[in-house]
Amino acid sequence: MRIPRPAVFLLSSLLTAAAAGAQTRDVKKIYGDFCANCHGASFEGGSAPSLAAGVWKHGGDEASVTRSIRDGYPQAGMPPWNAILSGAETHALVVYIHEQVVARERQHLTFAHPADNLTAQSELYAYRLETVIPGLQEPWSIAFLPDGRTLVTEKKGTLRLVENGRLQEKPVADVPAVDTGGQAGLFDVVLHPDFAHNGWIYLAFADPKKSAEGRNVAMTKIIRGHLRDGALVDQQTIFQAPLETYRPAGGIHFGGRITFDRQGHVFFSIGERGTKENAQDLTRPNGKIHRLQDDGRVPADNPFVNTPGADPSIWSYGHRNPQGLVYDAATNELWETEHGPRGGDELNLIRKGLNYGWPVATEGIDYDLKPITYMEPSGQRTPAVTTKDGMEPAVIDWTPSIAVSSANIYTGDLFPKWKGNLFAASLAAQELRRLELKDGKVVHQEIIFKGIGRLRDAITGPDGSLYVLLPDRVSRMIPADAK
Ligand code: HEC
Repeated sequence: MRIPRPAVFLLSSLLTAAAAGAQTRDVKKIYGDFCANCHGASFEGGSAPSLAAGVWKHGGDEASVTRSIRDGYPQAGMPPWNAILSGAETHALVVYIHEQVVARERQHLTFAHPADNLTAQSELYAYRLETVIPGLQEPWSIAFLPDGRTLVTEKKGTLRLVENGRLQEKPVADVPAVDTGGQAGLFDVVLHPDFAHNGWIYLAFADPKKSAEGRNVAMTKIIRGHLRDGALVDQQTIFQAPLETYRPAGGIHFGGRITFDRQGHVFFSIGERGTKENAQDLTRPNGKIHRLQDDGRVPADNPFVNTPGADPSIWSYGHRNPQGLVYDAATNELWETEHGPRGGDELNLIRKGLNYGWPVATEGIDYDLKPITYMEPSGQRTPAVTTKDGMEPAVIDWTPSIAVSSANIYTGDLFPKWKGNLFAASLAAQELRRLELKDGKVVHQEIIFKGIGRLRDAITGPDGSLYVLLPDRVSRMIPADAK
């Protein structure tokens, strides 16, 4: 290998740049200024090896790459960068390098693109995808009634009914008005675990209101009601946030998933609504997983019922935009998925009263490749770290992000080897992922298919097939040899 320019020279010329300000610099520029010389302008390698090949001499995991960059290998011509790059900048570089690796890998991998009635192969099963409910607009969630009817929410605020296999033209009447701009909409529809006896249907949606200043604001709200004569009747509010926690209408990060545990508690997720600091603020419902009795009363054993000022329905906090939430009845575990920023999508195992870190501890960085920063209560702006004592690390961190949208446990009989696996759907990456769980860890991950549309949900149907919600329809996966 050609001997690179002496590290000493590089160091002296660059120290000025570091001293220039505590401001974090653009990571692409850092790479171009400090690394491209040796590692190649397009990561192709040069006097030094390519950093995008996925082949590592000193280890490719987060900690190893960070160490390589900070300490360097001066004997081998790799300068140490710890005097020049801040911790946050180094972290941003590691994320950026990992994005290149994944991009390269994906160029060489092919994924199944199942189309109607064509057989596709996954690791454990050959399957077919077939359309069951066409003619939908951005379906968000599906619920199967014991009498064979099906309810589907559409983001645009309509609750649709499928009867005798046919999508009814008229949406269910008397569903509350819903804010539908931006990420707002009608979200989850879930049946009470004892629906057969009590008929309760739970809905999560972006509730539109006027703020005290007269601005249009919205916040995630949970209600329940009965379906009677094509209308949602007997409506009761299960959770409504105080008006001052509502954020601009048509905004971001509503969460909006609902799940029940064995004892009949209702859990639901609310995103931080775009003000990330709120995720750490126990007086606000934003950026939290909540737990209530099925009728909305606060359980006496919730973690913050005795904390002065705290919202008593909070079960866990430090969440960004949790759009997946599922209780696994077989293991008594509560699983959550949430959207990170750039990188830092998470699968979390939710436990009572714990802090899941956002925005203080995250693997993600900002969309402009700058580190995440947040405002301390003192008014000081602080860069995020990747891990912190007292904050739960994710079970899985997806960096680069896949835009994970849902989590469900497969409980059917049609694919016996999938039983107990967690299926995560994704929007931007358009992936269906199967995760094998063991003792609160993920022991294997498979991308079942990719690239047939933004995937909002994947959930077991009463027939044992796996229903997937695509942008314009609901389809189901059945074994290839099924009739
Ligand atoms: C003067 C040339 C030079 C510059 C500039 C340089 N590197 Fe390196 N880098 C090397 C060489 C040579 C190696 C191989 C070291 C070895 O073989 O042990 C290396 C190795 C590495 C490794 C370890 C790779 C592995 O296989 O484990 C990483 C990570 C890395 N560099 C990142 C960076 C980053 C990020 C920058 C910019 C901040 C940078 N390097 C700038 C020369 C350079």
